Amino acid sequence: MMVTFMRYCAMLLMMLLLAGCGVTDSAPRGDSAHGERIFREGLNDAPPCMTCHQTAANATGFSLGPNLAGVAERAATRIDGMTADDYLRQSILDPHRYLVPGYRSIMYPQYATVFNDQDVLDIIAFLRTL
Ligand code: HEC
Repeated sequence: MMVTFMRYCAMLLMMLLLAGCGVTDSAPRGDSAHGERIFREGLNDAPPCMTCHQTAANATGFSLGPNLAGVAERAATRIDGMTADDYLRQSILDPHRYLVPGYRSIMYPQYATVFNDQDVLDIIAFLRTL
């Protein structure tokens, strides 16, 4: 009887712990592997980010857009009062709002019609790994 009761308590405790983890996990988070796939392959008919962006810090050669190595750190400093995540989101969904110095306004402007919220979170998660 006592053993059963203790097992029951242990089970309850486990459930509480798991539920506790669930709470911290429920915040929306990006899947960087999926973000990387979109970055390399595009989505539906939208062009891959890779068409214009390099990601290796030591990359050489020409590309139309800025190298994105370390972009999350720069993102936090681009616009006063804007967090890195908000800036990255704006860069993807409304790329012409802010222009990276030295670059022209030629980024593909229609991603907002192609990506859902989760896609954007996933891409941001991937950009944060660069
Ligand atoms: C047709 C070329 C092109 C494509 C495709 C493209 N970009 Fe860009 N991107 C640019 C150019 C050019 C700039 C710099 C001008 C500007 O700020 O809009 C830029 C700027 C950015 C910036 C700002 C970087 C910084 O240092 O502030 C981010 C972030 C970014 N792009 C992410 C993406 C992502 C993610 C994708 C794919 C979903 C993508 N881009 C697809 C050309 C492109």
